[in-house]
Amino acid sequence: MRKQIVAGNWKMNNDLKASKFLVKQIIKKLKNNSLKNTRVIVAPTFVSLEKVAKKVKKTKVEVAAQNMHQVKKGAFTGEISAEMLKSVGVNIVILGHSERREYFCETDAILAQKVDAALKNNMEIIFCFGEVLEDRKSENQFNIVESQLKNGLFHLEASAWENIILAYEPVWAIGTGETASPEQAQEMHAFIRKIISNKYNREIAENVSILYGGSVKPANAKEIFSKEDVDGGLIGAAALDADNFVALVKSF
Ligand code: 13P
Repeated sequence: MRKQIVAGNWKMNNDLKASKFLVKQIIKKLKNNSLKNTRVIVAPTFVSLEKVAKKVKKTKVEVAAQNMHQVKKGAFTGEISAEMLKSVGVNIVILGHSERREYFCETDAILAQKVDAALKNNMEIIFCFGEVLEDRKSENQFNIVESQLKNGLFHLEASAWENIILAYEPVWAIGTGETASPEQAQEMHAFIRKIISNKYNREIAENVSILYGGSVKPANAKEIFSKEDVDGGLIGAAALDADNFVALVKSF
């Protein structure tokens, strides 16, 4: 059965001290919550990963990296490999975030290589994708999403899908305060399951968790998360405040 997931993408926020403080607050505030079927993931910057990974070790909170390089090691100044992430206790990585695609020129082809490198290291992947505003306006969103999934993930063997979490993040809803309506999210998530079912099978399509991301906050989470094919959220701004983040975890 697929899991509900609330993941906080801290982006380039919080130095080491602030990261340790935030994760401590989240752990404390979640203590009395049974979490039911919900996984809770936080993704700090690289400099805080090791310390945050240590802090969450005996808790139900998990830690993810925001990016990684596709090659194991070598002359790639400023980059970090899957092997390096594993060495500090990180087993989950976010790949394909629209900010990586837009500002750091990450193409579908590069992302497919990153996906392979992460899987080779038995890492779980939160794979992000989503259309920009012009595509939504011209009703091209389904083609865009389909091609991002095909190019980034559809080369995988069926068994690899156990390690994939999907995050549909329409770019026009990220950091804008404009959320996709619960109906728009549901429509896209159902479409995603349909194309996965066509390519692989119904079981894989039903078992993969599909998160929605883009201006999710406590005020709108309940309605979005209640949709049949929405299994949780990838949260930016609201994940930087422990009260808001924990409220989101409790929104199911
Ligand atoms: P916001 O929640 O700030 O819109 O960011 C969403 C996001 O990009 C999560 O990866």
